Amino acid sequence: MADTLSVTDNRTGKTYTLPVEQGAIRAADLSQIKAGGDDPGLTCYDPSFGNTAACKSKVAYIDGHKGILRYRGYPIEELAEKSSYLEVAYLIVKGELPTASRFAMWQHNIKTHTLVHENLKRFMEGFRYDAHPMGILIATVGALSTFYPEARNVSDVHSRRMQTRRLIGKMPTIAAFAYRHSRGQPYVYPDNELSYTGNFLSMLFKMTELRYKPNPVLEKALDILFILHADHEQNCSTSTMRVVGSALADPYSCVSAAAAALSGPRHGGANEEVVHMLHQIGSTAKIPELIKQVKAGERRLMGFGHRVYKNYDPRAKIIRQIAHEVFEVTGKNPLIDIAIELERIALQDDYFIKRKLYPNVDFYSGIIYEAMGFPMEMFPVLFAIPRTAGWMAQWAELLADEEQRIARPKQLYVGHGTRGYVPIEQRDEVGADETEVRGPL
Ligand code: ACO
Repeated sequence: MADTLSVTDNRTGKTYTLPVEQGAIRAADLSQIKAGGDDPGLTCYDPSFGNTAACKSKVAYIDGHKGILRYRGYPIEELAEKSSYLEVAYLIVKGELPTASRFAMWQHNIKTHTLVHENLKRFMEGFRYDAHPMGILIATVGALSTFYPEARNVSDVHSRRMQTRRLIGKMPTIAAFAYRHSRGQPYVYPDNELSYTGNFLSMLFKMTELRYKPNPVLEKALDILFILHADHEQNCSTSTMRVVGSALADPYSCVSAAAAALSGPRHGGANEEVVHMLHQIGSTAKIPELIKQVKAGERRLMGFGHRVYKNYDPRAKIIRQIAHEVFEVTGKNPLIDIAIELERIALQDDYFIKRKLYPNVDFYSGIIYEAMGFPMEMFPVLFAIPRTAGWMAQWAELLADEEQRIARPKQLYVGHGTRGYVPIEQRDEVGADETEVRGPL
């Protein structure tokens, strides 16, 4: 059978043959299908990109129906068990696992870029005491572009590599400074003798001791959580990274925009919402009431559902396992019992079964973060740090892809036809419908 699709346009009776490549037709091929003379050609309407591939990528593979996630071909379960975040970051950015010498060089390169300019520190000091750390992170990463103007030269591979090291190196520092700022505590400078996550914990939690010793269980748990969050193909924030990158904006501006997308409660802000929701429920006895509200469409069950996974999110499974190891050190977070019971009830309920709604990565991560002592506002920040490796890999892939031009979707115009301008004194106030006049803003 030929890899083609035959389409008959019932408006004209004409049949077209479109090539099919990797299960996709090219949307541009549809434009040859015209109803008549000045018809610009057929387009496809796909709000929220539910069924549109915008790029070819080699970074991450997801099979949402089987619950599979792989980075560069390696199953997420194997990487979580055997690798480390910095090794996974190398894999994602460079495409292959490093040799011992290349890994040593990579670690050195990242660790020598953990410090930030003192002016950047002062920039952060300008935020109000109660500023949301994600807002601080978004603004500060954007501000980094002014410290490295050469980053604008996105076609220079040496510059791209340098900005990648800087971003992966500095994200934990900026995140930790944002946290210390909200606590009114002095910023702690990086300790490059420690591991990536050990140093992050030190910058967050070091008080007056000369040397911070991270708890190895928590250090490892955070490292695994970072591995699980390192990439997830063309989600909302990664697509934002690519859209902004397609205009050839510098990578700091791109990462800042991607982090802004991540801050939303339907994306990286969801684990914060999960913990809010679990606190609000307070006890397992109130779960049926919550489920009733969800089924009535009054609210969403946060941490459940996914655009791609129509099965258990493989990351959620791993996180659920880590939770118990973390609780042995921190003491049990009572929210875990509510979460497990909520999952059990939801997974037996027709509403969730029919819609294939399973726990996603955010369902359990917030409970662990809370047990580790992170305030809820830090949760999306903890997501943005490891995702930086994925964003940078996807950005580099975009720039190397000759098929990519500036991102520019189409629209189907459904507004008014041509209207004549009416002078203000002639416009009718009477009878105008308030919502129609004001619109959604
Ligand atoms: N609770 C209740 N119902 C849900 C939920 C949920 N969490 N998620 C989806 N649904 C329902 C919808 O109401 C819809 O039902 P309908 O067909 O009767 O109208 C159906 O399931 C399909 O939902 P969509 O909104 O079309 O799914 P979409 O793919 O657009 O949304 C999303 C995915 C945003 C993740 C959604 O499931 C959601 O809002 N979940 C809660 C927030 C969350 O946990 N986000 C984190 C995602 S993971 C990440 O970003 C890292």
